[in-house]
Amino acid sequence: MKRKLRSGMSASLLAVAACVALHSPPSLAARDAQTILQQTCQGCHTPKADNALSRISHQRKTPEGWLMSIARMQTMHGLQISDEDRRTLVKYLADTQGLAPSETDGVRYAMERRLNTVEQFDDQTSQMCGRCHSGARVALQRRPAQEWERLVNFHLGQWPSLEYQALSRDRDWFDLARKEMVPLLAKRYPLDNPAWKKWLSTAPKSEALVGDWSFSGHLPGKGELAGVMSVSADGSDTFKVSVKGQYADGTPFNGDGSAILYTGYEWRGNVSIDGVTMRQVFAAQGNAMQGRMFEAEHDERGLDFVAAKQGSSRLLAVQPGYLKAGSETEVTLIGSGLTGKPNFGKGVEVVEIVEQSPARIKVKLKAAANAQPGLRAVTVGTLKGPSLSIYNKIASVKVVPEFSVARIGEGGGSTPKVQGRFDAEAWGKGADGKPYRIGVFPAQWKVEAFDDRAREDEDVKFAGTMQADTGVFTPGDAGPNPARKMSTNNAGNLKVIAAVDDAGKSLTGEGHMIVTVQRWNNPPIP
Ligand code: HEC
Ligand code: HEC
Repeated sequence: MKRKLRSGMSASLLAVAACVALHSPPSLAARDAQTILQQTCQGCHTPKADNALSRISHQRKTPEGWLMSIARMQTMHGLQISDEDRRTLVKYLADTQGLAPSETDGVRYAMERRLNTVEQFDDQTSQMCGRCHSGARVALQRRPAQEWERLVNFHLGQWPSLEYQALSRDRDWFDLARKEMVPLLAKRYPLDNPAWKKWLSTAPKSEALVGDWSFSGHLPGKGELAGVMSVSADGSDTFKVSVKGQYADGTPFNGDGSAILYTGYEWRGNVSIDGVTMRQVFAAQGNAMQGRMFEAEHDERGLDFVAAKQGSSRLLAVQPGYLKAGSETEVTLIGSGLTGKPNFGKGVEVVEIVEQSPARIKVKLKAAANAQPGLRAVTVGTLKGPSLSIYNKIASVKVVPEFSVARIGEGGGSTPKVQGRFDAEAWGKGADGKPYRIGVFPAQWKVEAFDDRAREDEDVKFAGTMQADTGVFTPGDAGPNPARKMSTNNAGNLKVIAAVDDAGKSLTGEGHMIVTVQRWNNPPIP
């Protein structure tokens, strides 16, 4: 390999480093980003026209992406930087060289740490780039062709053995990466994009986020929740946050914390809910926030979160979102600016409005015995969005996620176990014969051996335990297990089975869960 791998790097590292020492700032007071770039990065990254630095100025990425690049400078290239300076730089770079909201659409799952997502990329991208890390790590960056090419060079220079690995030794990886992937990536993920220019000039001021937010959420294994999140300013682009909410079963969901806004919309919060630290990764735009809130130590325990600013008008959710023909139930509408009469469509009658405020409406509903199965658009005045499912019988049950990974842990080690968390989704058949989602139902859960190998190795006995009434699977302890064949660890290959009761008839759905070893390397973007 004759290519110069560090093309674009300054050769005069020592000389500049010496200059930095001579001109280092007199105190440890907070330094601004430009100063840090000059004094901490410019030693290796050469200055270019227009106040630019080689490599650094020619890429755009998420806050997590910038954090990972700088962390790599520390671990691989010996960069010395304080945590405070690194925070300042990540903020500055994410604000000035970030991604527009439309550029993160469809790949936010990586930042939201939905690690069971089955990605959808073309075969070549999956094989060439998505076999060591997520395809989202690639899709969450923007660069010109030259920078994509340098990235390819860096990969091979840093990990030369990649050429001998599976999905490389069967092809000329380096040649394909340069000749096919680089042009493809430069076209698909270009540095210059009108969407980014537009976002820079139209992004709302962060103060617009201050106020009370009505939110709705869903935590697998626990159910739906709703409440109010109060946001107050605490410096520029930083906030104090307080959450007051409740699960459908009455369990409180209360806590306080802080948040910071990157790139004008990338909301990153840290909230302690009843003593457990939870992270918030939301896209916050105008009157809408959406994303995922998960435990810092257990990112598999997380809830889908959607919020509307009070004072705006938006209908967020209907809880629960289904009703059986011929039956009555109480449902709650969550949103903001809810005024007027709720309507649930044909065959659904509002028997009584139990409670009504701008943030929630609780109603008693009755579905006619002959109401046609299918989805009804729910409206409140002129507001719409969510739907209500009417069903007379459940046609099938799906386990969600259909494919998942749990991980052994603890057992004397410091890595926590990664649980499996499942929902049983009921599906109906519409009048048109097409399947439609009814919603998440209570279920009875169990695991079984996935195949003969798993049966022979007694994976069900060793890999962990499924909580029958919640769908929460807790894997076994890490480390070798003398009770297993060849003292192997508690890994396993399991079927996840949910049984849902529909008027005395039991319907089952099936998922697949691999119980495997710890994730030793757990970067912010998988
Ligand atoms: C000791 C030398 C050194 C210092 C100091 C240094 N870098 Fe780097 N940087 C490198 C090298 C070498 C590469 C190319 C290899 C790589 O990508 O890891 C690089 C590449 C990069 C890239 C491109 C990564 C990519 O994926 O294409 C970015 C961005 C970057 N550095 C940011 C920074 C920032 C920000 C600082 C200052 C906080 C910094 N670097 C300080 C040596 C350095
Ligand atoms: C052999 C495994 C492997 C393959 C194949 C691979 N990557 Fe990577 N990639 C890595 C590792 C390891 C890192 C470094 C993570 C870190 O920053 O510590 C990385 C980092 C990255 C980053 C983040 C760099 C930054 O600092 O911003 C991007 C973007 C990326 N890879 C894109 C690609 C693309 C595009 C391809 C296919 C052409 C590819 N990767 C193929 C292992 C791989």
